[in-house]
Amino acid sequence: MAPLIDPFQRPISYLRVSVTDRCDFRCTYCMAEHMQFLPKKDLLTLEELDRLCSTFIRLGVEKLRITGGEPLVRRDILTFFQSMSRHLKSGALRELTLTTNGSQLARFAGDLAAAGVRRVNVSLDTLDPKKFADITRWGRLPQVLEGIEAATEAGLKVKINAVALKGFNEDELFPLLDWCAAKGHDLTFIEVMPMGEMGEEMRLDQYWPLKDLRTRLAERFTLTDLTERTGGPARYVRIGETGQKVGFITPLTHNFCESCNRVRVTCTGELFMCLGQEDKADLRAPLRASADDAALEQAIRAAIALKPKGHDFDYSRQHVAGQMSRHMSHTGG
Ligand code: GTP
Ligand code: 5AD
Ligand code: SF4
Repeated sequence: MAPLIDPFQRPISYLRVSVTDRCDFRCTYCMAEHMQFLPKKDLLTLEELDRLCSTFIRLGVEKLRITGGEPLVRRDILTFFQSMSRHLKSGALRELTLTTNGSQLARFAGDLAAAGVRRVNVSLDTLDPKKFADITRWGRLPQVLEGIEAATEAGLKVKINAVALKGFNEDELFPLLDWCAAKGHDLTFIEVMPMGEMGEEMRLDQYWPLKDLRTRLAERFTLTDLTERTGGPARYVRIGETGQKVGFITPLTHNFCESCNRVRVTCTGELFMCLGQEDKADLRAPLRASADDAALEQAIRAAIALKPKGHDFDYSRQHVAGQMSRHMSHTGG
């Protein structure tokens, strides 16, 4: 079967699926305090999500990342992971993984590992309980730390994702690094993107360019660029003194769109061809129109043929450009 190739000759082999727009936290840079969530009746069922993902896998997707909102708050989500693991066994899927806030990991880590998940990305911006409660509004740090502990015990490799926020976690650069080194977790920093309505001034105020963060790191440590890739947008360095790996996701200071290999599906079956553009296609209608997957496949191919070149996020000139009105929780990052 012909693989999925976009107009810029990029093979699409990585699918991110947001299984719910709901979350048990309300991170200030990600969500409004009072979010209007989708009615449950609009959601794809787990069986429909299975059909959708299996179709993408047939079309050449090798890496499947489950996101949200918080994916582990979706009812019965474990059965979905268990069902997807058949594609790992068949060899069609190389990686089945998730991005989570960690709040439910204590409950799910063992079963996720048993379903073939090998790595999890956990969002953790601070190790200070008070700051953690402030930034997540509803989250509590000990619960997340317990979740991370449980994941490690279950044999999952944990990558910590920290959004770099000026005036918020700047002072925690080294403590975060030390903690990850001690626990054996990889650590990736992310530049804050203009997703969801937030005043321009506030966005610019919280933006901490990773170029600056890297300079700070290099003042203390020897950094070596690594060529290895996980298939995601992070670029990694090795810290000579500690041996640990640190990733940088830099949509603002260094655009990585030319090597983009991914698309996103939301919990209602919208296919977003780029995180930073409005272009989307409805996959729910073809999915529900017939039990046969031909129409669905055709809709996917037609959408990939329209994948845009990249995002237009830009904060230079002290102005926010490329702003998306939808929140990160809509597409799962
Ligand atoms: P691995 O490399 O497999 O660990 O995955 P990842 O880093 O791609 O996944 P993760 O879910 O941890 O994503 C981390 C951050 O990268 C999220 O904030 C995403 O929004 C961001 N990200 C992922 N893909 C893209 C992309 O195509 N464009 C932009 N601008 N950001 C992205
Ligand atoms: N910019 C950058 N990263 C964000 N995330 C959520 N909102 C934003 C934003 N506006 C991160 C979360 C999580 C990942 C999926 O996306 O912290 O690690
Ligand atoms: Fe939830 Fe993740 Fe958004 Fe925080 S960043 S509100 S944990 S979806």
